[in-house]
Amino acid sequence: MKNVFVIGATGQIGSELTMELRKRYGGDHVVAGYIQGAEPKGILRESGPMALADVTDGEQLSKVVKDYHIDTIYNLAALLSVVAENKPKLAWKIGIDGLWNVLEVAREEGCAVFTPSSIGSFGLSTPHDKTPQDTVQRPRTMYGVTKVTTELLSDYYALKYGVDTRSVRFPGIISNVTPPGGGTTDYAVDIYYSAVRGEKFVCPIKAGTYMDMMYMPDALKAAIELMEADPARLVHRNGFNVTAMSFAPEEIFAAIKAQVPSFEMEYQVDPLKQSIADSWPDSLDDSCAREEWGWKPEYDLQAMTTDMLEKLRLRLCGAGL
Ligand code: SER
Repeated sequence: MKNVFVIGATGQIGSELTMELRKRYGGDHVVAGYIQGAEPKGILRESGPMALADVTDGEQLSKVVKDYHIDTIYNLAALLSVVAENKPKLAWKIGIDGLWNVLEVAREEGCAVFTPSSIGSFGLSTPHDKTPQDTVQRPRTMYGVTKVTTELLSDYYALKYGVDTRSVRFPGIISNVTPPGGGTTDYAVDIYYSAVRGEKFVCPIKAGTYMDMMYMPDALKAAIELMEADPARLVHRNGFNVTAMSFAPEEIFAAIKAQVPSFEMEYQVDPLKQSIADSWPDSLDDSCAREEWGWKPEYDLQAMTTDMLEKLRLRLCGAGL
């Protein structure tokens, strides 16, 4: 039986990943790690154990791993791209000093580790169309610098100490439960909230800017299936390109407008977000993930849009928002 520890369990991915893991492995076997001020609430709090787990505090992590006999760690602690540009030192402290703590406890206690990388690990000099698995990674954002370092340090621990580290390069993740905070791809989440609230959406990204995206159920599937994959088949480890769709703002707008005819959008480009978006791939080639562990997404833009609008209508309109 697996005993799993999710670090960052109340964040955008963590809140849903923790619940999905509990569904698969049983509530008692998945510990929700949180930081002060971001305690689990509701079903996340009630469905299994929780523990204070600041990724920058190695002793705290070690105690949780020992107390709960943890064998697998999902390390989701990170600042997203725009916040990281404004707080570079903190981004490094959480992303890399934190990762070091996670890898050390994993080495000592024999845990497998999943730490996401991102499309942010690529830069302007990376081929933008069908970006290959193995290619130039020279990002100029602090987010990207921490993500490339994450990949390298995770590979190092695998090679040097035999720690079972694995990761994917997540594209923008779209979800309807916990909002993301401070990412470049957040517009693709915010646009659905505007549509359901009957508001005009102000898009911070220029028309014609393509970025890879993925609906949350596919992101959860990617993380869990990679960690369950047969290691003998893995040629790569940290991290696999994965994608489900690639679109520009006018395309997601059109997909929503087909279902919400009164929906309107205008552009007010945010220069920082735009420069980050311009440096990222337009579309990823995820054939290595497909070949090495059977990656296959389920949601395209239309299926995601139908589900997002339905879920958000239920939640926001039900709450009278
Ligand atoms: N969603 C992230 C961001 O926009 C990219 O992985 O920062």
